[in-house]
Amino acid sequence: MEVPTGGIARERNFRRSGATPGPTVKVWMGEGDLPALALCGTGRAHARSSRPGSHRNNCRFIPQLIEKLFVVVLIQRQDVSANAHGEAALDREFMTRALQLARLGAGHAWPNPIVGALVVSAGREVASGHHRRFGDAHAEVLALDGAGERARGATLYVSLEPCAHHGHTPPCVDRILAAGIARVVAPAPDPDARVNGRGIARLRERGIRVDVGGEATAAVLENLGYYRQRLGLGPTVTLKIAASADGMAARARGQRDDVTGAAARREVHGLRALHDAVVVGVETALIDRPRLDCRLLEGGVDREPMPVVIDTHLRTEADNAWSRAGRPFVVVTGPHVDAERARAIEARGGRVVDCGLAGAGVDVRQVVTRLAGIGCERILVEGGPRLLGSFLRAGAWDALWWYRSPAGFGPGVPWFDDAAHAHDAAWPGRLVDEATVGDDVRRRIVNPRSWEQIAAWLSRSGG
Ligand SMILES: NC(=O)c1ccc[n+]([C@@H]2O[C@H](COP(=O)([O-])OP(=O)(O)OC[C@H]3O[C@@H](n4cnc5c(N)ncnc54)[C@H](OP(=O)(O)O)[C@@H]3O)[C@@H](O)[C@H]2O)c1
Ligand SMILES: [Zn+2]
Repeated sequence: MEVPTGGIARERNFRRSGATPGPTVKVWMGEGDLPALALCGTGRAHARSSRPGSHRNNCRFIPQLIEKLFVVVLIQRQDVSANAHGEAALDREFMTRALQLARLGAGHAWPNPIVGALVVSAGREVASGHHRRFGDAHAEVLALDGAGERARGATLYVSLEPCAHHGHTPPCVDRILAAGIARVVAPAPDPDARVNGRGIARLRERGIRVDVGGEATAAVLENLGYYRQRLGLGPTVTLKIAASADGMAARARGQRDDVTGAAARREVHGLRALHDAVVVGVETALIDRPRLDCRLLEGGVDREPMPVVIDTHLRTEADNAWSRAGRPFVVVTGPHVDAERARAIEARGGRVVDCGLAGAGVDVRQVVTRLAGIGCERILVEGGPRLLGSFLRAGAWDALWWYRSPAGFGPGVPWFDDAAHAHDAAWPGRLVDEATVGDDVRRRIVNPRSWEQIAAWLSRSGG
């Protein structure tokens, strides 16, 4: 596996102002300009004075001066790097929290992004907020309201660049300026054409320190559908797998097994809430009878994602969990299917969409285009292994969320049906991050080809 370029690229592309630059050490030499280090005719380093004729004078003190200067530089360098290190660690911690808060808006905020914000004063969180629903107050306004006077001189952490335009609400930038915030930390610019760097620029113009770039990849991944849509990159395909420690999807063919724990399952429901459609292969639909909803999210969602079955010969039952619940669903089929079966499905609220064939069945690239055509631009593919293999082989994916449980299943249904992908080492993507979710581990991987476009935009507009 190519590990982990997300973080490395982030460091390279998004230098934190105030964190990474080396120390600026000023040593005053008397009246006049600051000195520059130079070599005198004797070959010894000394400070070059701006005053003509003072060279010999300065030179007498050179050995002591250099020694002192060296010590000062050393001490200040240590201080600055310790401070920068401490600040960077705190920034990471608070930004992770802002990103967690943002998730509370999943299933409510679209077509807006999910956003979380915190006001931090003297190293402590004093207030927080998240964008609760499309049209409602933005996260940073809620956090500033909560902080009141405590916002003066504080740092605002916000998981997306603050807006600078009048939309449903007035510009957040004005509110930040009025609140007296001293520093703003944001992971990445907002790709919306009405913002796109303007929020950062306006704050900087008004003397606010704005640090952009920490956790950029993670922040973009949380809002991947939003970034791709606003940047005109087309539909977004996220793959999700839940594997046992030995790489199995189920203990035996034809059966459904819980692979991960409650925390990971809840997180997956949050991931579903960030998508318009949740796709499964027909085997999974018939064996697991999954509901493909967001029922584990506290407070529910405004709109459940559309269940989609990929089913060449229309084996999907018309009477299923979705039709019984009166929930619309889609079945994507091959070109020649039994018209009677199609009518039966449509009579129960299903929509039958036909597609060309490729590889193991329906052409998955066409599936993406067809789904986008019916309003499902953010597509989550939840398996099973055969369908996931087709998306991977076709390169028709942008991000992969891979959960792995601590327990092994023994011989069962392996996640990868071809040897090329059977081992972790052969993962066809770039690892971005790894987190513990309950007892499970979640890795996020991006498709390098698709990620390139976002990385290029980020480095062009990196704040
Ligand atoms: N652990 C997890 O997260 C998880 C998630 C999902 C499923 N599962 C488990 O996985 C097992 C089922 O997975 P599976 O791999 O056997 O089946 P699957 O991927 O759910 O469905 C595969 C079927 O979809 C149809 N299909 C149509 N176009 C396709 C294409 N381009 N590529 C691949 N398939 C296409 C094919 O049937 P037709 O030829 O009839 O169209 C194919 O046999 C179950 O045991 C289930 O419990 C586990
Ligand atoms: Zn705003």
